[in-house]
Amino acid sequence: MAISEVDKKHVESLFPALNEIKDFSIREKVITVWVEGLKDGNYDKIEDIAWMERQPWSNKYTWSLIDHTNQVTSCALAIAKFAKEVMAIEVNMDILIAGACLHDVDKTVLCDAKTKERTDWYKKLPHGTYSAYMALKYELPLDVAHILVSHTAFSAKRQQTVEALIVHMADYITADLRNLKEGVDFMFTAQAPHYFDGVIKLGT
Ligand SMILES: [Fe+2]
Ligand SMILES: [Fe+2]
Repeated sequence: MAISEVDKKHVESLFPALNEIKDFSIREKVITVWVEGLKDGNYDKIEDIAWMERQPWSNKYTWSLIDHTNQVTSCALAIAKFAKEVMAIEVNMDILIAGACLHDVDKTVLCDAKTKERTDWYKKLPHGTYSAYMALKYELPLDVAHILVSHTAFSAKRQQTVEALIVHMADYITADLRNLKEGVDFMFTAQAPHYFDGVIKLGT
């Protein structure tokens, strides 16, 4: 599906790392998923989407989806540099950047922008499902869809590639670093998410 030059330039300005994707076709498809994803939800613009809506800590400990996405992408690039230069591990940078930039794109549809109610996408399918569906719909490589569907600690399918593991780790260290920055005490309260037997339980 063709996207307008205005939409394309706007999405590129929101996520600067897109310019580092060397494969022109992959870069265009990532931008298309953001543009079409916004249309599937009812937010007016990507800038209005919070990293996490309706969570117990979202009033005090919150930031925008754009900031979170760019933080995760920067962190993923740093981990990839370490993997390549220190551990001599190959990383497909186009796949990594595409996956990092799209890892939470489903937040365009998980919450109703007006009522803040959770949508059926949130209630009936696991986080990452819509993102992977959109990646495949717009013919991004399967390895990008894999990153999106496996990036959380809740994911039924664990990370099977270097790029998926990097994005997963970048997502969690970024979120926890922000939690520490915004209030160390929060990390140890009942309201913070905790791991139990490998599953995250959200605080009450
Ligand atoms: Fe996520
Ligand atoms: Fe995330």
